[in-house]
Amino acid sequence: MLWIKALHIVFVTAWFAGLFYLPRILVNLAMETDAAARARLITMARKLYRFMTMLAVPALGFGLWLWFGYHFSGAWLMAKLLLVMVLLGYHYYCGMLLEAFEQNRNTRSHVWYRWFNEVPVIILLLVVILVVVKPF
Ligand code: HEM
Repeated sequence: MLWIKALHIVFVTAWFAGLFYLPRILVNLAMETDAAARARLITMARKLYRFMTMLAVPALGFGLWLWFGYHFSGAWLMAKLLLVMVLLGYHYYCGMLLEAFEQNRNTRSHVWYRWFNEVPVIILLLVVILVVVKPF
């Protein structure tokens, strides 16, 4: 089980690198006026989105393997899964926001994206407390 948990943590960490960095690129895109620089940022963001989507699959796969393979249960796990659903929604929404930039129809300010960028930080904090401390 420890090998599966180790791989779970490694892929979760890699997925989060994308969840932290992609919105940061969107902050820069919302401020950028130079066409060449915007095109470069959009290419970076699209590659990163593709990569982080690939990393989410083993991150969640090993989590499910732990859950079903080792019969974990408890309210902490249900609360954790709820937050994971929010995280998946956030991931998908990042893709929609990126598409809006690709089609030159973004309406949100860089300030909005700075606050948006904080969401995965809060979710990570809550999930790690739930899975390590298991408060309920
Ligand atoms: C389908 C989604 C997921 C499922 C079913 C799942 C399930 C689990 C299970 C059953 C464990 C073992 C708990 C234990 O050994 O006490 C675990 C460990 C862990 N999970 Fe997940 N997980 C999922 C997604 C995530 C996500 C998105 C994160 C990060 C935000 C995360 C972070 C962790 C951490 C840090 C551990 C290690 C805890 C420890 O060693 O005490 N998991 N996960």
